[in-house]
Amino acid sequence: MGKKDQAYQLRSLKKRIAGGIKTYTIASGKGGVGKTSLSVNLALTLGKMGIRTIILDGDLGLANVDVMFGLYPKYHLGYVIKGDKKLSDILVSVQENVYMLPGGTGLQEMADLDAKRQLKLIEELASLEEYCDVLLIDTGAGVHRSVVVFAIASDSLLLVTSPDPTAIRDCYGLLKAVLGKSSTPSELHLVINMVKSDKEAKEVASRLQLTAKDFLGIDINMAGYILKDFHVEEAIKMGMPFVISHPDCEASKCVAWIAKNIFNPEGVDSVLNAPSGRGIKAFCMRLLKQFQLR
Ligand SMILES: Nc1ncnc2c1ncn2[C@@H]1O[C@H](COP(=O)(O)OP(=O)(O)OP(=O)(O)O)[C@@H](O)[C@H]1O
Ligand SMILES: [Mg+2]
Repeated sequence: MGKKDQAYQLRSLKKRIAGGIKTYTIASGKGGVGKTSLSVNLALTLGKMGIRTIILDGDLGLANVDVMFGLYPKYHLGYVIKGDKKLSDILVSVQENVYMLPGGTGLQEMADLDAKRQLKLIEELASLEEYCDVLLIDTGAGVHRSVVVFAIASDSLLLVTSPDPTAIRDCYGLLKAVLGKSSTPSELHLVINMVKSDKEAKEVASRLQLTAKDFLGIDINMAGYILKDFHVEEAIKMGMPFVISHPDCEASKCVAWIAKNIFNPEGVDSVLNAPSGRGIKAFCMRLLKQFQLR
């Protein structure tokens, strides 16, 4: 048996035992703090680690994951919902182990389908588990309902903030909105972006962690930080994610460290250690339940 076949069998076994792929929502509260930048570069880093990742653009207003990848897909989930395209037609292969699923307004439209078509679509989405271990969902700015819904439906919430006091306040506001709902993600991670130093990141993180503990009674894992790095802007101008254009820059090293902290905490072989969660079906069901509560 080849190495790839072995890896595939191990993954299948693991999913059968553990449930399904793990879903992560990346959200912030305030806009422009680096959610899309983190989502895209993290997805590529995970792909390199052997963790098969699908990135879903959940920014229902200004979707731009495709722009950051330098890709311009023609179709999105809305076409699958209308029945014009199959899911495999809209899934874009970005690099080995990394796919992009252009969401468009599809996930919201899903809530308006009749139950039979919803189930058919969910079955189709669940077939993505063959392709991936992890689903990352990039979300839009603000504490909008759709962002909260994605966060609640996911296995894990990755909060992103910059050291800017308004960003910290909005990050906390989003956390409060998510925790105000009856069901919450089982894991909470924090990433501080655009920091000047390790010291600044730790100060911001401990302030947020202490406030969350004191007022909301919850623990947030400090997953890491990303230094403010001019290569990030440079890469965007080049139309390329920075982990590809500048793999050795500070921001790339920080993303690698975050990936290891969240996805490979024990340091064991990444195939065996690819995170498992409740799976795509459970994610969709929770998503629909929340959308239907509107
Ligand atoms: N570590 C960093 N160093 C320097 N610039 C950064 C860093 N991270 C992000 N930026 C810059 O911040 C800007 C916003 O980034 P990005 O689009 O990822 O934020 P966002 O949170 O997704 O925004 P929105 O809320 O509008 O979706 C980009 O121009 C990006 O170049
Ligand atoms: Mg964005």
